[in-house]
Amino acid sequence: MNGATRALTRPDWRRSWVFIRPEDFEGDPTYAILQPLFTQECGGCHGPMPSAGLRLTDYASTIVGSTNGAVVVPGSPDESRMIEVLTSGHCAQLTEHQLELLIRWITDGAPQ
Ligand code: HEC
Repeated sequence: MNGATRALTRPDWRRSWVFIRPEDFEGDPTYAILQPLFTQECGGCHGPMPSAGLRLTDYASTIVGSTNGAVVVPGSPDESRMIEVLTSGHCAQLTEHQLELLIRWITDGAPQ
């Protein structure tokens, strides 16, 4: 039984999942709330052996950016390479809602 299965069979699984699953989140997200999304959707290529030197699995590295520099410009999604890349056919396939959450996070100043 893996961790996810165990979580699903726990009596309080609803409670614990509703708050950590970014796809169910409706407020103003912080990095901490988005981290499972980054890990799941980006971590395979932007984790321990990061493509373009961009590691997205922790806050500090996400803010530092890639070998080309910052990919998040806090307060300005239009200037953020992360959004530019994700809206021009990057290998990651995010849902509209997930993309919206990332845009909202950057608009709010990319809080930790
Ligand atoms: C299947 C592998 C893969 C996945 C998954 C992936 N990426 Fe990437 N990403 C790459 C590769 C390879 C590059 C470098 C080449 C390029 O720019 O396409 C890159 C480049 C980038 C860059 C540009 C870095 C720069 O400054 O050149 C950003 C921003 C980025 N990815 C964000 C993301 C985000 C956010 C996610 C998850 C939602 C994600 N990527 C998921 C492979 C991946």
